[in-house]
Amino acid sequence: MIKQTYLFKYSATNIFFNMPISSLTKLVDVKQCVIITDENIFALYKVKFKKYNTIVLKAGEEYKVQQTADSIIKQLLEFDADRNTILIGVGGGVITDITGYVASIYKRGVQLGFVPTTLLAMIDASIGGKNGIDVGHYKNMVGCFKQPNFILFDFLFLKTLPQKQWQQAFAEIIKHACIKDAALFKEIQINNLQFYRSNKKALIALIEKNIVIKLGIVQKDELENGERKLLNFGHTLAHALENLYQLNHGNAVSIGIAFAVKLSQKITGFNQTSAVIELLNKYNLPVELNYKASKVFEVLKKDKKRNQQELHFVLLNKIGKAVIVPIPLQEIEKLL
Ligand SMILES: NC(=O)c1ccc[n+]([C@@H]2O[C@H](COP(=O)([O-])OP(=O)(O)OC[C@H]3O[C@@H](n4cnc5c(N)ncnc54)[C@H](O)[C@@H]3O)[C@@H](O)[C@H]2O)c1
Ligand SMILES: [Zn+2]
Repeated sequence: MIKQTYLFKYSATNIFFNMPISSLTKLVDVKQCVIITDENIFALYKVKFKKYNTIVLKAGEEYKVQQTADSIIKQLLEFDADRNTILIGVGGGVITDITGYVASIYKRGVQLGFVPTTLLAMIDASIGGKNGIDVGHYKNMVGCFKQPNFILFDFLFLKTLPQKQWQQAFAEIIKHACIKDAALFKEIQINNLQFYRSNKKALIALIEKNIVIKLGIVQKDELENGERKLLNFGHTLAHALENLYQLNHGNAVSIGIAFAVKLSQKITGFNQTSAVIELLNKYNLPVELNYKASKVFEVLKKDKKRNQQELHFVLLNKIGKAVIVPIPLQEIEKLL
């Protein structure tokens, strides 16, 4: 059982904010836990895993697939993991997504905890209870909703995070600012990545702000029937590009955001396109890709958010105010 000494709480989730991973031993029964992590994190932080049964996966999006889930399940059986087991994903979004997925199906569901180790997982992937795996070119095609029992934020992990991964996370931070928070947009316009990397207080405040934005949306609409769809801003195109062109998630989202603001300009009259593009540029994120429109369109058509002959696109009215606009598929084909 997980002890209740959370810093804040939503739904059934205890959030332990700014706490060392070593304090996990006080929150859970170590013998009941199985940690799932990847080889990079394991190599960097081996001592932190010493007390735990640990499953170490190969790193990378290409391993976020059913075959990896099967191999985790086999190892859980070898550990005699039962329904009281607590699975803890320690890693980036790939690890939190696949750990959440296995925790929801193993023995019809076991307890789940996350220790996000990338900025992206801290401000996005570990929050909100969506999990899943990829199937072929299709991102997150299989999965479900399962809120973790706890999320522990230990910012020490960010010390070893490569520059590229920092940039990736800012695609989602810029997304949050665009759809919900004009003041945050201004803040990140004024600052830059180096500032956040070297100013712990500002970084922690930034992470907290982004968690609150995502939680605020998720709490209103856990199962994505309405408001939560706003979080897909930039993601419709991004998901198609991501697996077709082996792009990182953040880079794909950045290109998707750039596309969505240009589309907004045409459809809602949004007039801050250049400010968004400049901000993506400022954080060294790509805003263009020379993609093959017909290939992308084929994948888009299968997008899980498709409703009959139209795609529900998230567009901006202004910075901080997003809307969902259904766009006919034929129209999208022309716009790509
Ligand atoms: N479920 C959700 O709501 C949600 C939201 C956003 C993204 N995602 C998913 O998250 C994934 C992307 O997440 P990600 O970028 O964190 O990917 P990732 O898990 O692949 O991590 C990126 C890389 O950083 C390494 N790494 C992780 N932590 C490190 C650390 N502290 N120091 C050094 N290296 C470290 C990893 O080994 C990996 O090579 C995608 O699969 C995406 O679909 C899910
Ligand atoms: Zn995303």
